Amino acid sequence: MITFTRLAALITLLLPALAQDQEDASRCSKIPDEINLTPLTDPFTFFNGQRVTSKSDWTCRRAEISQLVQRYQLGQLPTVPSSAVKATYFEESRPKVNVAVTVGDKSISFNVTIIPATEPGKDSSPAIFSIGGSSLPTLTGVASILFNNDQIAAQNGPSSSRGVGLFYDLYGKDHSAGSLIAWAWGIGRVIDALEKLPEAKIDTKHLGVTGCSRNGKGALIVGAFEPRIVLTIPQEGGAGGPSCWRISDYLARKGINTQTAHQIVTENTWHSPAFEPYVNQAGILPFDQHLVTALVAPRALYVPENYIDWLGPESAWGCQRAAKTVWEALGVEDRIGFDQSGEATAHNHCQFPESEVEGLGAFVDRFLRGKKVKTDGYFKTEAEYPDYSDKYWRNWRVPTLR
Ligand SMILES: *[C@@H]1O[C@H](CO)[C@@H](O)[C@H](O)[C@H]1NC(C)=O
Repeated sequence: MITFTRLAALITLLLPALAQDQEDASRCSKIPDEINLTPLTDPFTFFNGQRVTSKSDWTCRRAEISQLVQRYQLGQLPTVPSSAVKATYFEESRPKVNVAVTVGDKSISFNVTIIPATEPGKDSSPAIFSIGGSSLPTLTGVASILFNNDQIAAQNGPSSSRGVGLFYDLYGKDHSAGSLIAWAWGIGRVIDALEKLPEAKIDTKHLGVTGCSRNGKGALIVGAFEPRIVLTIPQEGGAGGPSCWRISDYLARKGINTQTAHQIVTENTWHSPAFEPYVNQAGILPFDQHLVTALVAPRALYVPENYIDWLGPESAWGCQRAAKTVWEALGVEDRIGFDQSGEATAHNHCQFPESEVEGLGAFVDRFLRGKKVKTDGYFKTEAEYPDYSDKYWRNWRVPTLR
């Protein structure tokens, strides 16, 4: 039996310790604002539970992710033999290329405009595709190829744009593809054309892609699905781009005005109709945008970012950190850059900030211009996320793939 006196003595003895605990707790790690968090899918475990242990396993895991993302989010990317593409070079105030594609008994054709490089190479120049216009500063030695994405697949709202554009003229209005993957198909055909046209003076081994905002979503998908793109530069793409559905949902629940899967399908036709059943339960999808991003690996990715609530800046940060583990596992961590402004350094949407010019230049010089420059040290944010922890979203260890 414990007497009252002894109990009182015990409590007196314990009190300082309890006070000490409370004091210590302020130094301890924080817990998230809610515990309804579904971690991002493990890049290094196949759908059937097998582990990814080698680089050749990653090739198969990559193919698996590509199939899952096409089936449940973007729609199917049709393959086309290069012989189905007819290329014609012409000049009309600027160099242009006409790309004609025939599938079965249907044909379409469209033009792209080339803005030649300042200080062009002798026979050819590296080039960056700009999806619906570029918001990058002028890059010496690099041509621009203007790609009119809206002509391939429209993006004017969910009811008026579904099935509208040259892609659907070729494949039918009911094709599963949303606009994003239809644009990836279009850029693939332009590359087919450029490969046949030395007179266009484009070095098809050194191609990049960019776009901002909605077209930044597109730039990421083009880089993910077109392996001939060696440098992907999606600018301020937010949801459907470098942000993850799961993290953006969490931010929206916290009351931050963030674009989510639920909202995005009501805004436009970027995704396949097949995505719609999942937009209120993104946590059951066997992938998220970190794995869509990882389709780019081991090729180079540089993500110039901003601090605008709607983009989900914390979501982009966490999502791209998760994607980066794939580049780490492949031993090419310096091929992924992420450069984000903070609350105090936020700038107008799609206005390329001075602070990101150096990182962009390094990636362009190394991967498009073949210069020996370093690209490590450009995975960073000026934002502060006191409530963020990688551990909320990741339950995997990063293997070294042999
Ligand atoms: C491509 O350019 C040619 C020459 O200006 C023009 O006749 C043709 O209509 C253009 N094609 C499209 C699809 O805009």
